[in-house]
Amino acid sequence: MTGRAASDLPPLPTGMALTALDPVFREDPYPILAELRRREPVHHDTELGRYVLTRHDDVTEVLRDLTLWSDPRRANPETFTHRFLRDGDEEPSMLLMDDPGHRRLRDLVRRSFTPRAVETWRPRVRAVAERVVAAVEGPVFEAIDAVCGPFPTVVIAEMLGIDTGNHEDFKRWSDTSVQVGFNPFPTPEQVTEAEAARDALERVFLGEIERRRAAPGDDLISDMVTAEVSGDRLTDREIVSMCDLLLIAGNVTTTDLIGNALSALAAHPEQARKLCAQPGLLPNAVEETLRYDSPVTNSGRIASRDLEIRGVSIAQGETLSVSLAGANRDPAVHPDPDGFDLERQGIHLASFGGGRHFCLGSHLAKLEAQEALGALGRRFGPLHAASKGSVRAAVPSFRGFEQLWLEAGSA
Ligand code: HEM
Repeated sequence: MTGRAASDLPPLPTGMALTALDPVFREDPYPILAELRRREPVHHDTELGRYVLTRHDDVTEVLRDLTLWSDPRRANPETFTHRFLRDGDEEPSMLLMDDPGHRRLRDLVRRSFTPRAVETWRPRVRAVAERVVAAVEGPVFEAIDAVCGPFPTVVIAEMLGIDTGNHEDFKRWSDTSVQVGFNPFPTPEQVTEAEAARDALERVFLGEIERRRAAPGDDLISDMVTAEVSGDRLTDREIVSMCDLLLIAGNVTTTDLIGNALSALAAHPEQARKLCAQPGLLPNAVEETLRYDSPVTNSGRIASRDLEIRGVSIAQGETLSVSLAGANRDPAVHPDPDGFDLERQGIHLASFGGGRHFCLGSHLAKLEAQEALGALGRRFGPLHAASKGSVRAAVPSFRGFEQLWLEAGSA
């Protein structure tokens, strides 16, 4: 493309217009991401202090590059990643930690999240899904409040072995922490509320840890209390931080995955009917939803040295913001990227990140989504959009619904 032709084009959206706080991007980010990928696959967003990458190959390479950093304390001031630092923060969670600290923590917890370990939870996850779905009052219902929201919180609480009598508070506290956990632009009120929620959760977790030290059971907190690698063990503080991360990283994401699947199915009734007729397609349907409408839209790394990507120079300490949503819709990897096809083969997901921080909970998230969609399908058959409509959630880096009204029966 010549310089003149490029200058005739309208300016690319940048800054806040590339976050879910912007109504246009929130409603449908995909045409914007496609335009970025075509015109500036390494886009310097000077407003938010980051380089936004939208090509699948670039995104994958950055995620897998083990020399790049994640710890926001290493980021240059005023950069996107630097905003994740909070006053009074001690050690960051594992997600924002570099080696050797990251490897140590990951080695101590990974065993609980292998495909085989997670599969043993399936009967209990299915029972929770059946229970939650049985309580839905149909035929018209708001799916986030009724199913997608409570379901992952109840599952993780049961996995952690937390008293089910506490679930109401537990959900409220974990929702509140999430408002701030990955939000680079929290309001002062959100920060204060999140701190109070975190203190409340810490008290619950410390009590549970003490009980498990006395009598370990068959749950994740017991796994963490007893985990040992070459004589090394997790401290109470590390277990609390891990529990917080599991709530923050695992709840909203899974809520969004189930909501995005229901919305995509409602928009493609022939696919919804096929899925109800062939529940064996559920695992691939979840895979395709993750590609088509990724619950986490971007992740990041910090340049650990001066580097260059596609001719763009990036200085040490700057943020590489990788668009997982953009990579998933790259036509170079996924033909007909904007199509939703339950039977698509050759899916190369960017949705769970990659390299050393690849999502620890990916198997659990998929299993939960399969069970929730399965239970809804058995109870209601194909669901379609109800006239009350839907509202997308305005949480940066996440993509899901605040409200999603659905209706059973033929449209
Ligand atoms: C659809 C649901 C989910 C999505 C889309 C998702 C996505 C992600 C992404 C993008 C990352 C960062 C990866 C990177 O930068 O390379 C991540 C990390 C992580 N996720 Fe998930 N996640 C989901 C569910 C869960 C669940 C259910 C759990 C656990 C209960 C979980 C636990 C974690 C943890 C602990 C990390 C940090 C891993 C590390 O730093 O080594 N996630 N996830």
